Amino acid sequence: MIVARTLAEFISAYNELPNKSDIGFVPTMGALHEGHLSLIRRSVAESTSTIISIFVNPTQFNNANDLATYPRTLEADCALVEPAGVDIVFAPRVEDIYPEPDHRIFNLGGLDQYGEGPRRPGHFNGVAQVVTRLFEIVKPTRSYFGEKDFQQLAILRYVTEDQKFPISIIGCPIARATDGLALSSRNALLTPAQREAAPHIYQCICQAREWKSTLTPDEVVARITEAINANPELETEYIEIFNARTMEPVHNWEDAQEIQLGCAVYAHPVRLIDNIKLK
Ligand code: PAJ
Repeated sequence: MIVARTLAEFISAYNELPNKSDIGFVPTMGALHEGHLSLIRRSVAESTSTIISIFVNPTQFNNANDLATYPRTLEADCALVEPAGVDIVFAPRVEDIYPEPDHRIFNLGGLDQYGEGPRRPGHFNGVAQVVTRLFEIVKPTRSYFGEKDFQQLAILRYVTEDQKFPISIIGCPIARATDGLALSSRNALLTPAQREAAPHIYQCICQAREWKSTLTPDEVVARITEAINANPELETEYIEIFNARTMEPVHNWEDAQEIQLGCAVYAHPVRLIDNIKLK
């Protein structure tokens, strides 16, 4: 496994790969866990070579403290992924990805109008900036993304098609801790009391599956918000029940063929997101 810390190092490692038309790629921001590993294992199983990137992308952070405190654990990350069969870890410097400031504004197909979009202005444009830049450098055959970031996956599918990248976007299921908490690099920032409270989020949102037979989507949102906030460690930022294709909130269960519930909940100052399929 080669760890490339600059663009030049990456290019020389890339040139040695045996079959450049069969490359699997897993972009990450590091602090890797079993969720990232599930994407990596799938890429290794399906591809001649697997490249992962570890890059905490400044343009997608809309909160300076979140960027400053984002966990950075490159050595442990490399030790974790090497046995999985990764060929290249690309861990570039900011100047390798952004030799000049990136002013591109992407067409996100309106998929950023709901959910995370209005709560994190500029976030998805920053994700599109970094992922398209990485696609240009890595030129993968297929790229793997987690359903943990459901809206990000939908937006990246859209951008890949809109920008005509010849890359298959592959969505992978959410990996959870045994207590149900969605695995996240930010979980490392929780206090013991917050970590104990955090599984409450998944327990509460799963109740929507029962409540949906008697309550409207808006009533379900209100019930879940109340249930999550009953835990003193947690504060709901939003719960949305939305059309899984357009991200648009639904107010009746008949409004869409595929319906998803998404949420963001604070265990202050850490912001946790999760989602489940309802229909
Ligand atoms: P990061 O949060 O490091 O996540 C990297 C990839 O791992 C994403 O596709 C994410 O959805 C997936 N992932 C994270 N936790 C997961 C879990 N519990 N189960 C399944 N998949 C999980 O998402 C990003 O980085 C960045 O926005 C990035 C796409 C790398 C652009 O900077």
